[in-house]
Amino acid sequence: MMCGMIIDLAQTDKSWRDMHRLYLGFVQPRPIAWASTIGRDGSVNLAPFSFYNMVSANPPVVIFSPALNRQGDPKDTLRNIRETGEFVVATATEDNAVAMNDTSTEFPYGVSEFAAAGLTPLPAVSVRAKLVKESPVNIECRMRQIVSLGCESGAGQVVFGDVRVVHIDDAILGADGLIDPDKLKAIGRMGGHLYTRTRDRFELISVRDPAKRGG
Ligand SMILES: Cc1cc2nc3c(=O)[nH]c(=O)nc-3n(C[C@H](O)[C@H](O)[C@H](O)COP(=O)(O)O)c2cc1C
Repeated sequence: MMCGMIIDLAQTDKSWRDMHRLYLGFVQPRPIAWASTIGRDGSVNLAPFSFYNMVSANPPVVIFSPALNRQGDPKDTLRNIRETGEFVVATATEDNAVAMNDTSTEFPYGVSEFAAAGLTPLPAVSVRAKLVKESPVNIECRMRQIVSLGCESGAGQVVFGDVRVVHIDDAILGADGLIDPDKLKAIGRMGGHLYTRTRDRFELISVRDPAKRGG
């Protein structure tokens, strides 16, 4: 058995919030979905979510998880996706990090985080939700499914989205036509208030099948 802390969730007197802080300390770095949505009444919203990933390439599907808030109510992002079934995910980078963080402020419903954070909404091609001009990548998604993991404060409401349209700024492309990470400068979320850059990288070539490297 490993030495150290063992926490049996059925026995512990730690709260879910204490455990949440621990989880964020080991599930890292997490990519950040900067989710842009629009309500039925045209309210525009933008907020970051680090419980995020791409979970299928064919079909292309992303997931992210807005938790129910302190009162057990849906965050504005979830409300809007339930109302209109669409969203855009922009990419958090070193250049837009401060603005991204500003958009995590819990403004009353209807306040545009684009305006509050000095960001520029651009029209999308296939959805009414806006692109974020200050992000070099924006993906337009149609909601496929929402899986509710509970109805208490903190319960994740996992949004699955089918990727319909991908926008990539030419400025972040390398000579091979792929995204150059040194130009994208994506950031990830760690524990507490910490973020990580993506500059310190290393390569591992598959031992079993070198032909598949990079896959
Ligand atoms: C980098 C970052 C990542 C976050 N990730 C999540 C997350 O995965 N799930 C969540 O519910 N809230 C997350 N938050 C908090 C939300 O952004 C915050 O509650 C926001 O106000 C929700 O906005 P909305 O009510 O406009 O949807 C995160 C905040 C930051 C700064």
